[in-house]
Amino acid sequence: MSRTFTQSPVPATPGLDALDAVTVAAGSAPDGVQAVGYTVAASGDVPAALGLDREALSRAGFEGKPGSVLALPSASGPGVFAVGVGDDAPTGAALRDAAAAFVRAASRWADVALVVADVGGLDAVETGRVLAEGVALGRYRYAVLQSDSKHVPLERVTFDVAGFEGTAGADGGRLADGIAAGLRDARATVVARDLANTPPGRLTATDFGTVAQELGARFGFDVELFDKAALEGLGCGGLLGVNQGSAEEPRMIKLSYTPHGEATGHLGLVGKGIMYDSGGISLKPSDPMHLLMKMDMGGAAAVLGAFTALRDAGATARVTGWLMCTDNMPSGSSYKLGDVLVARGGTTIEVKNTDAEGRLVMCDALVLATEDGVDAIVDIATLTGAALMSLGQARAPFFATDEALADAVSAAAESADEPVWRFPLERKYRSQLDSGIADIANLGGKYAGATTAALFLEHFVGETPWAHLDIAGTMQSDSDDSWRSKGATGYGARILLHTAATFSR
Ligand code: BES
Ligand code: MN
Ligand code: ZN
Repeated sequence: MSRTFTQSPVPATPGLDALDAVTVAAGSAPDGVQAVGYTVAASGDVPAALGLDREALSRAGFEGKPGSVLALPSASGPGVFAVGVGDDAPTGAALRDAAAAFVRAASRWADVALVVADVGGLDAVETGRVLAEGVALGRYRYAVLQSDSKHVPLERVTFDVAGFEGTAGADGGRLADGIAAGLRDARATVVARDLANTPPGRLTATDFGTVAQELGARFGFDVELFDKAALEGLGCGGLLGVNQGSAEEPRMIKLSYTPHGEATGHLGLVGKGIMYDSGGISLKPSDPMHLLMKMDMGGAAAVLGAFTALRDAGATARVTGWLMCTDNMPSGSSYKLGDVLVARGGTTIEVKNTDAEGRLVMCDALVLATEDGVDAIVDIATLTGAALMSLGQARAPFFATDEALADAVSAAAESADEPVWRFPLERKYRSQLDSGIADIANLGGKYAGATTAALFLEHFVGETPWAHLDIAGTMQSDSDDSWRSKGATGYGARILLHTAATFSR
């Protein structure tokens, strides 16, 4: 379909462009710096440079709580900020959030420095990583469609960390390594946010394929695009069924990363790429929540984001990604309730609700991944409202059939501060998916919707170890909060990146 004049082109990944433009270094605050933050714990010493003691800070309402920032008046020189970190031995997550809160409080300034008094037990690499992630993610904003945006992108950030001074010493060098790692990890998240924030009319499945090709060429992975005819050839009846009502072509986007040297294993990543979810014939009722359905490709965006960082992370496994992209639209040609789709591999699926489309596009990819002989599959999808209802916007439910894979996902989630909680695959509910006419139905009962969706997906993975992340709740934030920025959060990109970077069979 040709784009109308109202959909003038904008940069596909403005957040990535902003990340390319910022210099982040270790060292003392340089001449000309516009704002300097000093970390302050909830107890213990207050940095002398603030010129205030704890009592004075407290009178101003600043207690050193994590995420709190106090701007201090200064007649001349750079702006000065007290940046709360809570515990005097802060965790990586607390430091990441403090860095994010600081760059938000100093939003007027492009050249900022953060002086970190105490990093507790964190080593130099971990410190650099979380600080760089914090500033890059905290300052993120999707502003390309605002003609009069006040957003000031960061140009230079300097981290002065007690104990890891300079860049010459061993620890200083390791701090710089950590900063590079943090910018790389932030890239995964920022790419995922950019794509999920893009309005649906400006990012079709076809556009998504083009963006993937550009990113693949730049960040060292191969991209193969499957159009409608190719999908028909593969028998991907799930993706094709959902696409039936759309004026736009579907795309399956296959990503391939090959490590140098012998691969330690082969990991498959599958992402739901519903470019816009109207519900189809089972049309969603009017509800502000449905404004968010442009983000129903957040899973595919997280996979693509993770791929942009695999080479720089030195991932030693082979990683293959399948992004299942189409919108879900009602029209005269839409798939209907009662239709029976035939997925890749021959499973027949009775459609009982066209709004349960995510599982239909995913199942073809899960079969293709098993056919490729991957050692494990991790899939990610904005799959069910039930995920949002059960754990809210801060933590994502996940399911797994394999203990080692579940542990790897949990560890990755911890390291990224993208919290997850493992749900049981309650097989007692599997019969809710029985169909009187086909092998399986796409709709479960009234309760445990995240579980019945997971049980549907499990049908297609065979014996391959598998984990499934439902990010319907966590894909979006209503406000700037910790490392999350208002709008798409890019949730899961760093979980997938860390899982893939350390994967071995
Ligand atoms: N994309 C939605 C799930 C969703 C809901 C994502 C809220 C983000 C925020 C999904 O395709 C959907 O419509 N799921 C239905 C499934 C139901 C019909 C079985 C749901 O959860 O209501
Ligand atoms: Mn839906
Ligand atoms: Zn959906």
